[in-house]
Amino acid sequence: MCGIIGCAASRDIVPDLLEGLRRLEYRGYDSAGIAVLNGGRIERRRVKGKIRDLEDHLRSSSVAGPCGIGHTRWATHGRPSEDNAHPHTDCTGTLALVHNGIIENYWALKERLRAEGHVFRTETDTEVIVHLLENHYNGSLEEAVRRTVAELEGSFAVACVSHREPDRIVAARNGPPVVIGHGSGESFVSSDITALLQHTRRVSYLADREIAVLTSSGVRCTTFAGEPVEKPVEVLTWEAEMIEKKGFAHFMAKEIFEQPDVVRDSLKSRLSLESGRVFLGDAGIDPKIFRDSKRVVLVACGTSYHAGLVGKYLLETLGRVPVDVEYASELRARDFTMDRGTLVLGISQSGETADTLAALRAVRDQARAVVAVTNSVNSTMAREADGVLNTHSGPEIGVAATKTFVGQMAALSLFALAFAQAKKTIGPEAVRPLIEELQRVPHKMETVLARAADIERVARNFLSCEHYLFLGRWINFPIALEGALKLKEISYTHAEGYAGGEMKHGPIALIDEGMTTLALVPRDRVYEKMLGNISEVQARGGRVLAVAFENDAKARNVAEEVFPIPEVHQLFSPFLTVLPLQLFAYYAAAAKGLDVDQPRNLAKSVTVE
Ligand code: AGP
Repeated sequence: MCGIIGCAASRDIVPDLLEGLRRLEYRGYDSAGIAVLNGGRIERRRVKGKIRDLEDHLRSSSVAGPCGIGHTRWATHGRPSEDNAHPHTDCTGTLALVHNGIIENYWALKERLRAEGHVFRTETDTEVIVHLLENHYNGSLEEAVRRTVAELEGSFAVACVSHREPDRIVAARNGPPVVIGHGSGESFVSSDITALLQHTRRVSYLADREIAVLTSSGVRCTTFAGEPVEKPVEVLTWEAEMIEKKGFAHFMAKEIFEQPDVVRDSLKSRLSLESGRVFLGDAGIDPKIFRDSKRVVLVACGTSYHAGLVGKYLLETLGRVPVDVEYASELRARDFTMDRGTLVLGISQSGETADTLAALRAVRDQARAVVAVTNSVNSTMAREADGVLNTHSGPEIGVAATKTFVGQMAALSLFALAFAQAKKTIGPEAVRPLIEELQRVPHKMETVLARAADIERVARNFLSCEHYLFLGRWINFPIALEGALKLKEISYTHAEGYAGGEMKHGPIALIDEGMTTLALVPRDRVYEKMLGNISEVQARGGRVLAVAFENDAKARNVAEEVFPIPEVHQLFSPFLTVLPLQLFAYYAAAAKGLDVDQPRNLAKSVTVE
C-alpha cells in the first residue's frame, strides 16, 4: 500500500509527480504530498485527502523544480492527517523521504533517536528513517541510505532527496516493489509501472536489498553492501492509453466491459482445436511437473482466493487430483505440511501481496514447484516462482478486482486442461469440445454485458435493501463469495456469500423481507438443489434475484427478477454468472454516488501483513 514516485530531470517535474501520483492513487488515498528541490531548498506540500486536494493546494501555493519525490498514503501507523502525510523531513529540513512499507523496529529507533535529541513531528513509523538519514549524512546521500537501511527491520521501498545534492534521488528496496524508468535525459522511480508509462516504456526493477541513485543522466544501482549491480532494461508492451477511462464514468465500468477481450487474450495461442491440445509453454512449466504432482495447493487472498476456488473445482473435475485452496494469511500461521509431490500455485493480480509472498516462501522448500498466476509478470511473486502463468488482463486501476478475476479464471481453466492432458485424465476427444466452448465464452460474456441497463434498473430498485445473501453451489459457490465481496467493498452494503447447502445450517434464520437473496442457478449438476434454496427463501418472505439461463422458465417463476445468461458448459458458467454480480455492485455504488474506483479504507495492493 502507499505509492511512491520520484523524477530527476532538467525541467520542472511537478506536473509529472502529480500525474504519477494520480496513477498510483489506487494504492492508497488518504493523504498525499510532494517534496521538490528548488534553488538549494526543499519545498514540501502535503494535504490530508486525495491527489485532487493536493493539486488544489498547489494552485494557491505553487512549487517547481527539476528533481523531487511524491507519495500517496494508505495509513498504517498514524491516522490520515497533513502531519502524517509523506514526504517526511529531518530536524534540519534538508532531507526528505517517502516510504511504502512498515518499519517493525520503529519504536526502539524512535526512543533512541529522541534520546539523542531528534524532534519527532508525526505519528508514523516512517519518520525514524529520515532522522537516521540525518545522523548518517556526511556529504553522500547514497552512503547515508546504505548506513540507514542497515538499521531498519521490516519492509520498505523508499526514495529520498537532500538539498545538498539537488540533482539526485536515492531509492532503496527491501520488500515492496520499486520500478526504475529510464527516460531520455530523465529518470524515474515508482511503486508501479503504470506511473511511468507516460514517460518511458524502458524499465528495470530494483531487487530486495538494492539501492538506486537516479539523476537526469542515468541510474546507477548497488547492493546494500555496496557492490555494483547491472540492471537489465526491459521494454514494456503496455501502452499509456490502456490506463485511461475511455469514455466510461469509472475505471471499474471500463474494466468490467473489457472482460471478454481479457478471456480472448488469455486463450490466444494457447489452444489448438485441431489437435485438441492446450499449450502453456509461455508459463515455463515442464509437463513433467504436472505428471509428478500428487496434490495441488492454491494460495491467495481476497478475490484471487475466489478465483483459486474456481480453479480447485476445475482441477478436481478435469485433473482428478486433490486440491486445497488456502488463504495466504492463514496458511503462513499454520503448521502446514505437504509432501514433495505437491504443486503450489500462488494467485495474485499484483504479485506483490505481502501475505501471499510470505506464504509461498514458507512452503517453497516442501513443494515440487511454485507457479505464479499473476497479471504482473515482473512482480516479486513472478520472479520468485519456478513458472509464471500470465493472466493477460492489462492494467487494472479500479481497486475492486474485476477483469483480473476473469483473467485468473481463464488462466486456471487452461491450467486445469493442461494438467489433465499431461496426467491423461482426459484425452483430446474430450478436450476438443471444452476448447470450443471456452472459445465461445467471450461472445457469451458480451451478450450478458449488453443487458447491463436491465441490471442497472434492478440495482437502483434495490438501493434501499441493506442485507444480501449470495447463494451458489459447487463451481458457483466461489462466485457467490465474489459477488458478496464486490457489493461490500464498493457499495458498503452488508452481503454474505454462502454455499447453498449451508443455508439451512444457520443463515436461513436471517431470512425476512429485509434480506435479499441473490441466487446463482445455471442449469448444472446442482440446479435442482439451488431451486430448492430459492423456494425455502420465498417460503420465509425473503426477496429473490437470480442469475439463470435465458430460457429457464422455472427460475423466472420463482425469482422476482432474473439476470439471464446464455447456456454454457457447467465448468465455464462462472465466466458468465459473475458479470451480473459485478454490474449489480457497480451500479448500486454509482447510484449512491460513492467513490467506485477508490472505496474507503481499501488499497489495490496490500503490501503490508
Ligand atoms: C478485490 O476486489 C480486492 N480489492 C482484494 O480482495 C484483492 O483481490 C486482494 O487484496 C488480493 O490482491 P492480489 O490479487 O493483488 O494478491
